[in-house]
Amino acid sequence: MIKIAVAGTGYVGLANAILLSQHNEVVAVDIVPEKVEKINNKISPIADKEIEEYLTAKNLHLTATTDAESAYRDAEFVIISTPTNYDDEKNYFDTSSVENAIETVLAVNRNATIVIKSTIPVGYTESIIAKYKYNKILFSPEFLREGKALYDNLYPSRIIVGSPQGVDDMKTQAEKFSRLLQKGAIKQEIPTLIMQATEAEAVKLFANTYLALRVSYFNELDTYAEIKGLDTKSIIEGIGYDPRIGNYYNNPSFGYGGYCLPKDTKQLRANYKDVPENLISAIVQANETRKDFIASDIIRFLESKKSDKPVVGIYRLTMKSGSDNFRQSAIQGIIERLLKCSITVCIYEPTLSSSVYMNCSVIKNIDIFKSESTIIVTNRFENQLKNVVGKIYTRDIYSRD
Ligand SMILES: NC(=O)c1ccc[n+]([C@@H]2O[C@H](COP(=O)([O-])OP(=O)(O)OC[C@H]3O[C@@H](n4cnc5c(N)ncnc54)[C@H](O)[C@@H]3O)[C@@H](O)[C@H]2O)c1
Repeated sequence: MIKIAVAGTGYVGLANAILLSQHNEVVAVDIVPEKVEKINNKISPIADKEIEEYLTAKNLHLTATTDAESAYRDAEFVIISTPTNYDDEKNYFDTSSVENAIETVLAVNRNATIVIKSTIPVGYTESIIAKYKYNKILFSPEFLREGKALYDNLYPSRIIVGSPQGVDDMKTQAEKFSRLLQKGAIKQEIPTLIMQATEAEAVKLFANTYLALRVSYFNELDTYAEIKGLDTKSIIEGIGYDPRIGNYYNNPSFGYGGYCLPKDTKQLRANYKDVPENLISAIVQANETRKDFIASDIIRFLESKKSDKPVVGIYRLTMKSGSDNFRQSAIQGIIERLLKCSITVCIYEPTLSSSVYMNCSVIKNIDIFKSESTIIVTNRFENQLKNVVGKIYTRDIYSRD
């Protein structure tokens, strides 16, 4: 069995650790002791059906630890899946957690092949190879969706591994790593591409920016329809029958959000610094314009209720039904805009334990929430709201995506 260490046990790290620990000896590393303890007790730190099932029911060769050095010391592969948040001051990803993991690996094991799974700027792998004078570094973009993290690795759309330019040994290691991912998957005949690391980095950012473009496109279509008094659904249905466009991933929303799309689009825009472009910047800008429009549309709807004490109720902070977190959700941008207009806002979000969030009161009881809210704003319609349809503000058409 091959020895593998995984740095970071979030959505990406844990899904990969579980997938690979079916046939290899895997040690998962995190800086948060509670996560490590949960994994060792076969409890998933994130809500994910397949992860929960695999942790308890499968014979995995998986342990977790906070002792990074011991985990990296004799691993053949060290996978890095730590956060790369966007730093608004530097206008670039903050890759310090990735470098931190690389430095720890290099201090204890200079034979390891490091595989970066975190999303990184285009050109990052080559720059880090030059910085550390260590060329055993691969980049393998991750395409999983939160909530389907392990599922998307068991049935991957594709496997991509990028190796540094001109390093033949690393191309061999890239192929070996791709076979490890294939072996852990259930899907057969997975499209597998070995390419240059810089190209693999571009694949990840261009893929997510396309998704953001598509979301923004249907959102701007919806803004147009709403202002001109047209039926969004008829228009979307009409264009979707063109097989080149298709009837999927076309449900209007308050904006794209989640952990990845907002930051990955901004990073790609930063990578275009010396390259002519209009579209990439427009995608980032379109999301802000959409949220401005939604906030003003909500205020119009609120005013139509002619209430003495108007309150906007926010139903859930998550992006989609079934999600277990609300990192960078568009609704939070809407709340900020409403608060700037001195609108009273309350929130219903069962996963929040605090009683105040973003300076808004958090109401735990759904019935009290419904009765105290003049209108209820929700990104996606849920059955729980059926008895208050007259109060609902949403741009959801299909109850999906
Ligand atoms: N979440 C997604 O849907 C998704 C999809 C594709 C790619 N990605 C990318 O993968 C990376 C990780 O995303 P995520 O959602 O899994 O993040 P996450 O926040 O869920 O998990 C990251 C984990 O890394 C741990 N960590 C931080 N620094 C560490 C260190 N030095 N050593 C060990 N552990 C450390 C954190 O405690 C945390 O548990 C990001 O670059 C992200 O852009 C995420």
